[in-house]
Amino acid sequence: MSRYENPIFCALDTTDLEWAVALAHELRGHVGGVKLGLEFFYAHGRDGYGRVADAGLPVFLDLKLHDIPNTVAGGLSSLADLEPAIVNVHAGGGGAMMRAAAGAVSSGQTQVIAVTILTSLDSGDLTEIGFREGAANEHALSLARLTKASGLAGVVCSTHDLTAIRGELGADFLTVVPGIRPAGADNEDQKRIATPAWAVKTGADILVIGRPITRADDPVAAAQALAAECRDALDA
Ligand code: C5P
Repeated sequence: MSRYENPIFCALDTTDLEWAVALAHELRGHVGGVKLGLEFFYAHGRDGYGRVADAGLPVFLDLKLHDIPNTVAGGLSSLADLEPAIVNVHAGGGGAMMRAAAGAVSSGQTQVIAVTILTSLDSGDLTEIGFREGAANEHALSLARLTKASGLAGVVCSTHDLTAIRGELGADFLTVVPGIRPAGADNEDQKRIATPAWAVKTGADILVIGRPITRADDPVAAAQALAAECRDALDA
């Protein structure tokens, strides 16, 4: 069962500041939060972040930091006063980097989480970049274990990895899942995808959903339909 009344965070992947601000206002009451990532933040930085945050929704600042511990800690310290609901690093940066990340964010308002395996990568892609042979979900589980041991609040993972992560790391460990597509929708660049119903039933706390909302003719109606699918799945 998700700990969020509405588990959907809409990914505002755009460089169009006014569109992002308008959509954040429109989506208020229909999603649990919004996500700002590289595309938006590199274009509009702190001021753009502030404009979107003013819409009043929790913000997941998805910058996926991955560098040496000192640099990641410095980067997160520079962002700390924005007090996003969630910020993240790549678990592949290692335990020392994640411990430095946890230490750099002292605000109780912000949860620091780590990306395990990108949902755009499958087992073949992982072998190509040098991971030993094995299922993507085994790699995701070991990275999630390291994330928890390093003191972070949770992970970004695929729904395919959730059962193992929830089972071993417990209900308090925050799980954020992208790669969500309604049945029959275009996968685009995502590979390890799931429907919203499957994700919440498997125990996801937050579902990051971008294009199925932002590219819909009516984004509010799309968000409402996705939220209804989540509610129905949990009530079933
Ligand atoms: O448009 P779509 O629903 O595919 O957007 C998914 C969002 O989640 C994107 O902003 C992407 O950067 C992000 N994300 C992801 N896979 C991860 C981590 C984040 O797709 N493992």
